[in-house]
Amino acid sequence: MKRKKVSVLGAGNVGASLAQHLVMGGISDVVLYDIAPGVPQGKALDLGEACPLWGSSVSIKGTNTIEETAGSDVVVITAGLARKPGMSRDDLLQANASIIGVVAGEAAAHSPKSVIIMITNPMDVMAHLAWKSSKFPPERVLGMGGVLDSARLRAFIAWQLDVSPKDVDAMVLGGHGDQMVPVRSLISVKGVGIDSLLPDEKIEHIVERTRNGGAEIVALLKTGSAYYAPAASACEMVKAILFDEKRLMPCAAYLDGQYGAKGVYAGVPVLLGKGGVEKILEVPLTSGEKAAFDRSVSAVGQLVSVLGLS
Ligand code: 2OP
Repeated sequence: MKRKKVSVLGAGNVGASLAQHLVMGGISDVVLYDIAPGVPQGKALDLGEACPLWGSSVSIKGTNTIEETAGSDVVVITAGLARKPGMSRDDLLQANASIIGVVAGEAAAHSPKSVIIMITNPMDVMAHLAWKSSKFPPERVLGMGGVLDSARLRAFIAWQLDVSPKDVDAMVLGGHGDQMVPVRSLISVKGVGIDSLLPDEKIEHIVERTRNGGAEIVALLKTGSAYYAPAASACEMVKAILFDEKRLMPCAAYLDGQYGAKGVYAGVPVLLGKGGVEKILEVPLTSGEKAAFDRSVSAVGQLVSVLGLS
């Protein structure tokens, strides 16, 4: 069977950690692309030299040449700047738009059948920009944010209750920004609703910590943003696509009327399979959650208009 090919654009912390997951797990051949001379080559060499220890037979190549990404099944875009302490994801808009507008179009031209996963912030808007630049159907361009935010929420609940995070289910919807929506009514431990397990103020504290989850790490690191959990989140999405798993995951998808939103990317529950976003599920939200979702989507919409995208 022909091995799958995944290209990771951007060999910074998120990109290199994702490449490590893919190579260590023997999931696909990987091309790690970056404009910085030597960086993707050095990281790829290091990863390749670990393969005998990991028992992995996939190939890993580092390059500064976008043509080498040709024929990828999945393209993951992490290129661009990460925020510094005190910055919101939205502060990266103009700087990262100038990078993503170019790189997404080039990558799409070389891998016309791929699914693109956007990680660069502000992620929902960058997914929109990549969709426009790629000229792909919207179901083949999606964004990583909800899987990460939900993992953070699940971890915080697990730590509070002293249970395995494996048994905690949760979804964070809306934009991957300060107004993201950790959906309280969807938090459960093996199906047991969170309201019967924790007092209201503890749940609210965890919901707030989730909204600030990225900033909490930026404030601690001071020189960059989170990468282990973002890379692990992207890896789950890549596997769902490569292996046609039909996983239900909160991802940024193009909304065309779903949840009352139109012409904008935002985090919603999607079925992820080989075609990318195979279905958007409309789950019931309380009126408060729906209002919060609307506010979050409208914040994304404002950034979309700043870039003049439609
Ligand atoms: C985060 O939330 C980098 O946006 C990413 O950590």
